Amino acid sequence: MTIKVLDNLWDQYVESNPHVQEIYDLFVSKGEKPINDHIALRTLDDPRVDNNALAKAFTKQGYKLGGHYDFEVKKLKAIHLEPEDPNQPKVFISQLLIEEFSPFLQKTMKACVEAIPSKLLNDVDALLTSGATWSYRSYNTYQKLLEESEYAAWFYAFGYRANHFTMFINQLKNFNDVTEVNEFLKDHGVKLNTSGGEVKGTPADHLEQSSTLSGTIDVKFIEGTKTIPCCYFEFAKRYADENGKLYQGFVAKSADKIFESTNVKN
Ligand code: NI
Repeated sequence: MTIKVLDNLWDQYVESNPHVQEIYDLFVSKGEKPINDHIALRTLDDPRVDNNALAKAFTKQGYKLGGHYDFEVKKLKAIHLEPEDPNQPKVFISQLLIEEFSPFLQKTMKACVEAIPSKLLNDVDALLTSGATWSYRSYNTYQKLLEESEYAAWFYAFGYRANHFTMFINQLKNFNDVTEVNEFLKDHGVKLNTSGGEVKGTPADHLEQSSTLSGTIDVKFIEGTKTIPCCYFEFAKRYADENGKLYQGFVAKSADKIFESTNVKN
């Protein structure tokens, strides 16, 4: 079974992040057929586009709500959705709590939502790959947002697209854990996100993850074209929980560090 919206998100993701396709192909050349553990999407807490609004693209495909998460420092709330078919990725959706930020950030983010055509607001599948429909992006605004929230700046620059996909290590034949995957990647010249260490989480958390540093992409701002970080590729190994079942949730403190893969300062 394929889910069209996930295929569209993947195609858009690899097209603008060639390092992801190269890494995927490296695993294929080792005889692997990688599948994704999860995909992460970013949005705002405006009810027209919030976590629940975006979740509809997946609940209509049989996905069920799996958990809620709070990221107090980054001022985010997230949910995860679980697929009916375990070969499909889980979906992690986070929303920025814009009222907790400055009037400038609030005004900028609200203007983004206002600029989304109502046709897209009524068609969540199309919205998810619609990018930044606000056509007046300013590099000055982007930089000012960065000072307050990397998440807000990323959303302003890129809008709706996958933030990352995550390869599911458990399903690989030749790699047992995150460290083995990391060594393989580094041997092939891939740069990893080292914020909080190369491996985030422990078997005791039931989830270990790592990620690449974001690739960069040219974005047209009103001041001219600028090269900024776009998206990263993540790797996850899951462990059995106390009930002997493979843990399906997320670990907030690890995700907090993973969010930093798109930091400009890395
Ligand atoms: Ni993730």
